[in-house]
Amino acid sequence: MVKYTAKFCIGTRYGIHMRMRRKKNLEPRMEAVSDLLIPCVSDDLNFSTAADVKDYVDYRALFGNDHPVFLEIGCGKGQFIIETAKRHPENNYIAVEKIANVLVTAAENTKKEGLTNLLFMKTGAEYLNRFLPPHTISGIYLNFSTPFPKKSHRTHRLTHRRFLEIYRTIMADHAFIWQKTDDAGLFAFSIEEFSKSGFVLQNISLDLAEDEMEDNIVTEYEARFMEQGLPIYRLEAYLSDPDTWEEESL
Ligand SMILES: C[S@@+](CC[C@H](N)C(=O)[O-])C[C@H]1O[C@@H](n2cnc3c(N)ncnc32)[C@H](O)[C@@H]1O
Repeated sequence: MVKYTAKFCIGTRYGIHMRMRRKKNLEPRMEAVSDLLIPCVSDDLNFSTAADVKDYVDYRALFGNDHPVFLEIGCGKGQFIIETAKRHPENNYIAVEKIANVLVTAAENTKKEGLTNLLFMKTGAEYLNRFLPPHTISGIYLNFSTPFPKKSHRTHRLTHRRFLEIYRTIMADHAFIWQKTDDAGLFAFSIEEFSKSGFVLQNISLDLAEDEMEDNIVTEYEARFMEQGLPIYRLEAYLSDPDTWEEESL
């Protein structure tokens, strides 16, 4: 049986260096939601070589249809992705989370809601291109990603160029990445990384509440930061100019 161990949660407002207590009955709880978990165990823990082997998922077999597939990376307890999947039954969603402690709650709530268009991968974003076929993902949500404020930890930030290269390989033509964060340092870093990696940015907001974005779906962390009156930063990133999309697809 797979053992799900608790890890550290990093960040200041994100609970720096606090060891998360292992959830009671984690293994039976994970077992009870196993029908919502996409198998994605890699024997090779080195992400750069793990992705040399391909264990591609079959979306049609997983979801029973060919609807577009969207990802949330670092879904936490799943508030955002569950609400998104509820509002958009015409899409499929995969929520990726490396910590079983929180993923289990997201999967349990998905089951309670009876959603059939949302599945989960318990893995690190580092391994995504081992499991997801090239150019098949219609959009990626990065919500309140762990900021990893220490410079020496910057390669763990989910917008570091090594992750952007992974996303590039799985993103379909015309796919977007949507990022929201409360962390000014992470936001500035992300803008640099996106632009250095050839992404184009649009609709940058330095205060989402003030910009009154229609249909904003609030995440667990976002609700907490909004309550404290903190600004939320948001951007959209894509790889080619939408004005040329019609021409390109001719
Ligand atoms: C600060 S929480 C935000 C949770 C949720 N998105 C929200 O906005 O409420 C960040 C989450 O990203 C996860 N995470 C961090 N690095 C990751 C990685 N490389 N792959 C997958 N998940 C990751 C953490 O385990 C954590 O649950």
